[in-house]
Amino acid sequence: MANTWTPASWRQKPIKQAPEYAEPHALEEVEQKLGTYPPLVFAGEARRLKAALGDVAQGRGFLVQGGDCAESFAEFHPDNIRDTFRVLLQMAVVLTYGAACPVVKVGRLAGQFVKPRSADTETIDGVTLPAYRGDMINAMEFSPEARAADPARLVQGYSQAAATLNLLRAFAQGGYADLHKVHQWNLGFVADSPAGARYQDMADRLDETLAFMAACGLTSETTPQIRATDFFTSHEALMLNYEQSMTRIDSTSGDWYDTSAHMLWIGDRTRDVDGAHVEFLSGIGNPIGVKIGPSSDPDDLIALCDVLNPANEAGRLTVVVRMGADEVEQRLPAFIRAIKSEGRSVVWACDPMHANTVKSSNGFKTRHFDSILAEVQAFFAVHKAEGSYAGGVHFEMTGQDVTECVGGAEAITEAHLGARYHTHCDPRLNAKQALELAFLLAEMLKDERARQRGRAPGE
Ligand code: PEP
Ligand code: CO
Repeated sequence: MANTWTPASWRQKPIKQAPEYAEPHALEEVEQKLGTYPPLVFAGEARRLKAALGDVAQGRGFLVQGGDCAESFAEFHPDNIRDTFRVLLQMAVVLTYGAACPVVKVGRLAGQFVKPRSADTETIDGVTLPAYRGDMINAMEFSPEARAADPARLVQGYSQAAATLNLLRAFAQGGYADLHKVHQWNLGFVADSPAGARYQDMADRLDETLAFMAACGLTSETTPQIRATDFFTSHEALMLNYEQSMTRIDSTSGDWYDTSAHMLWIGDRTRDVDGAHVEFLSGIGNPIGVKIGPSSDPDDLIALCDVLNPANEAGRLTVVVRMGADEVEQRLPAFIRAIKSEGRSVVWACDPMHANTVKSSNGFKTRHFDSILAEVQAFFAVHKAEGSYAGGVHFEMTGQDVTECVGGAEAITEAHLGARYHTHCDPRLNAKQALELAFLLAEMLKDERARQRGRAPGE
C-alpha cells in the first residue's frame, strides 16, 4: 500500500459517512483554496508528539486526550477555549503530581468539527432532511437550507481552528501554564465543589514543592518545563477532502504530514481496513488513533496495525478502546493478547464515553458518571490482569458548567439535564466531573506505576 499511496488515493476506496454536495465543483474550489493556506501545525511538532506517545507505549507516560464531542461555530469564544484548556491542565497536574507520571496533553480541539452519524437522514413530522454532520459540513437547524452541505463551512472551520490553535499556543507557552499558576487554574464554579477543594489542597502542596525547588535553583526562569507545557491538538479525520487539502510534504523528512492537527484518529464507524479513511491515514506521518468498539475483533485490529503501522513504530498508533462499562472486561483481553503475541507496539487508551450513552427518562442523550468511571476502572483492571499498560484516556469534556452527564459528587440528576444542556452532539463531562475523574484516575495510575516498578503500591 505504501508505494501506491498519495494524498488522493483514498478516493479510489469505498467511503462511509461522506456528505453529499449539490455542487461538487464548488467543493473542489474550496479544496484548492485550502491547499494554498498555511499549515496549522508543523511536522516537527507531530513528530514530537509521536515521540512522547512512544514513551507512553513503553509505560513511561500517560495520555490525556479530551475536549468537545463537536466544536461549534456558535460557541467559538476565547473563554470557552481557555476553560477547556485549563481543565485539561488541572487534570494533567493531578495525574502528574498524584501518580508521579509525565502526562501527554492532547485536546479534541482546533478542528473537531465533523461528526459520523448513525443515519444519513433525519425525519421530523414527516419531513426528511440530511442529518447534521457537524459545523464544518452543515448547520444543526432543521431546514433544507441549513442541512445542505456547504463547502464554505470548510474555510470557516479552518479559520476557527487557526485562531483556536493560536490562543492555545499562547496559553501553553506564554506563561498561563506556568506551574506557579496552578491555583489560578481552579475555575470559580469548580473551586466550590469537592473536587475543587481537593485540588486546592494539592495545589498548596505543589506550591511547597516549587518553593523547595526554587531554593535549589529550579525556577520558571531556569527551567522551561516549569514555565511552559506542550499541548497538542487532535480531531477525527472524517472529512477527507479537508484533510487532503491540509496534507503537505515536510521539507525536513520528505514525508507527508496532515497539517490540520498534530494527531488524527479514525472513528469506530470508518475503520474498515480496505476503506477510504484507513487508506488516507496510512500514508501520513502524524501519530494516529483508531477507535475500537464492540463490533471489532482482534483480527481486525492486527490487520489495522499492518496497514497503519507497518514499521511497528512506538507512538505511531493509539488504540482507543470504547467497549462500554459492561463489555470491556469480557472483550478487551483478547485484543491485548493478540497485540502481545504479534509483538505490536500500541498505546492503549480508554474512551469511556461512546459506548455508555443512554437516553434519560426525560428524553436527553446522557451518560452516567458511574458508568464512565466503571469503564475506566475495568480498563485498568484488565491491563493489570494481562500484565499490559493502560496508557491513556479519551474524554468528551468541557470547561463549562454544563449539565449533560448525570452523577458525580454534585449528583446531577436527570431533572437537572435541561438546565444547561449545550452540546452540539454527545453529552460532555463538565469541569467538576472531569476533575473528579482525574483524582480517581490518579489513584489507578499510581497503582499501575507501582506495579510496573515491580512493587506493591505504597512500598
Ligand atoms: C467521537 O469520538 O465523537 C465518536 C463519534 O466516537 P466513535 O467513533 O468512537 O463512535
Ligand atoms: Co462523541
